[in-house]
Amino acid sequence: MTADSSPQPPPPSRQASVTSAGAADDVARDPTARATGESPPSVRRLVEGATALLAEAGVASPRVDATALAAHALGVERVVLALLPEAPPEGFQARYAALVERRRQREPLQHIVGTTGFRHLTLRVAPGVFVPRPETETVAQHAIDEAARVAATGVVPLVVDLCCGSGAVALSVADEVPGAHVVAVDLSADAVALTRRNSEETGLALRVEPGDVRDPGLLADLAGTVDVVVANPPYIPPDQVPVDPEVRDHDPDLALYGGGADGLEVPRAVIAAAARLLRPGGLLVMEHAEVQAAAVRVMACADGALVDAATITDLAGRPRALLARRADAAARA
Ligand SMILES: C[S@@+](CC[C@H](N)C(=O)[O-])C[C@H]1O[C@@H](n2cnc3c(N)ncnc32)[C@H](O)[C@@H]1O
Repeated sequence: MTADSSPQPPPPSRQASVTSAGAADDVARDPTARATGESPPSVRRLVEGATALLAEAGVASPRVDATALAAHALGVERVVLALLPEAPPEGFQARYAALVERRRQREPLQHIVGTTGFRHLTLRVAPGVFVPRPETETVAQHAIDEAARVAATGVVPLVVDLCCGSGAVALSVADEVPGAHVVAVDLSADAVALTRRNSEETGLALRVEPGDVRDPGLLADLAGTVDVVVANPPYIPPDQVPVDPEVRDHDPDLALYGGGADGLEVPRAVIAAAARLLRPGGLLVMEHAEVQAAAVRVMACADGALVDAATITDLAGRPRALLARRADAAARA
């Protein structure tokens, strides 16, 4: 989750010119193709037209998105443009134009196609639930590595994903550390339902529960026994409204804004929950915004329950997550 800047949507006059039938021609950049009796533009040419339209609308990865939408309209997982047949299948042009128009209006690609990739999984996404982001794959990696390390000692790892959203992190742990017991919690009923659905559809077993990380009784039956607590909580401060329409207008506020003036109310609660749930030596992995690295390290170690706080970077080298361990009870005494 980021609040990066991006160009704004296209001006209304241009939007108004793209209606269903007209959009198909617009997409192809060849409004005369049908009128002159020529054969319809090739899929490749339609994708090129759509790429230009999406770029104009400020979409960050126009070619990737135009190609993914073509695959969706063709009913296949992905397309290699060079291998496509010249002639589009019956109805393709209109179907494609409608999808491109939705993306041009900055509806997230993942909402349009209904799925997203996360590590090795294809997961269902839905309006009302946060779309998993690539940077969280690094956070998941640390949880997976720790769970695998525990499993290698002959112990069944117990992993809790707080603020699970679609279940992306929890399901990746279940997928990549076979035999691990994984628990996923979210305050949003929509997120809980989607995580359950993704669990069923991937065949990866989870314990999924509605719950509020601010509740001191959350998962009381697991207190002091958990090997890894992993979380990508909401953490944006209230005055830093994301600029990208895909985020601002489509991710739920509950998933974005962390509460309090600094956005750290929910992350603070995650740290407190981790201190309760982790066994001595257990690991907390928690995503945060770049500017929050020092603050969350201080928060984590404030009362001595967690130690060894460190910041890890994402693939772009930005400081984006906290690691901390539950203090050994004897060492604290
Ligand atoms: C940034 S999203 C992350 C979702 C998922 N972990 C991911 O990375 O794709 C944050 C999630 O935290 C949930 N959430 C917000 N406040 C919460 C709270 N107090 N307790 C539990 N979950 C909460 C939201 O519903 C949302 O699903």
